[in-house]
Amino acid sequence: MYDAGDIMKFGFPMAFTATMLSLAILEYGENMKTVKQLGHARDSLKWITDFLINAHPSENVLYIQVGDPELDHQCWERPEAIRGIRPSTQVNTSFPGTEVAEETAAAMASASLVFKNINSSSSNLLLEHVQQLFSFADAYRGSYSVSIPQVQSYYNSTGYEDELLRAATWLYHASKDLSYLKYVTD
Ligand SMILES: *[C@@H]1O[C@H](CO)[C@@H](O)[C@H](O)[C@H]1NC(C)=O
Ligand SMILES: *[C@@H]1O[C@H](CO)[C@@H](O)[C@H](O)[C@H]1NC(C)=O
Ligand SMILES: *[C@@H]1O[C@H](CO)[C@@H](O)[C@H](O)[C@H]1NC(C)=O
Repeated sequence: MYDAGDIMKFGFPMAFTATMLSLAILEYGENMKTVKQLGHARDSLKWITDFLINAHPSENVLYIQVGDPELDHQCWERPEAIRGIRPSTQVNTSFPGTEVAEETAAAMASASLVFKNINSSSSNLLLEHVQQLFSFADAYRGSYSVSIPQVQSYYNSTGYEDELLRAATWLYHASKDLSYLKYVTD
């Protein structure tokens, strides 16, 4: 989950990566199985979604970054040897981050489909988090790089409409709840 050889955790690209991994497993899982990689792919995804679940401790709070990128980039260090301060950054109702929360929702919704027939409690837990995250990010709309300008130097955002639709689409597939289909088509 560390970013580009650093020991930063950036939630936005991490969530995107998880969504792509889910998509790859859903589309190409049979091929992965043939070359005995399906278990590894699922384990990698579970590692990320376990983190994302913990990063969402209450309905309207999502931690989107761990570490200080300025300090981190000045220091080559093994993750095993981290000693410095690890500040964490959250989005919430006063400092919303619709794109990062919705990309996280998309990651969780797609992963809940991957785990559906593997571990139903894991799949259901993810869906509970997704529904909360989707509502939070839709009700409190704002770009995380406007709320928290420091993130602009790393993973800037140009808007959140695409993530809203992406999350609602995955949520519809994962939950079969027609209200999400209506959300997207409206
Ligand atoms: C909400 O998020 C902002 C930005 O990360 C943070 O500064 C603030 O402390 C958070 N609010 C609460 C109540 O934790
Ligand atoms: C299923 O997922 C839950 C929640 O993540 C976890 O506690 C449990 O160990 C998992 N069960 C198996 C058999 O992997
Ligand atoms: C981040 O993106 C916004 C919106 O496109 C843009 O206005 C801003 O200049 C960008 N910030 C940086 C540091 O590139």
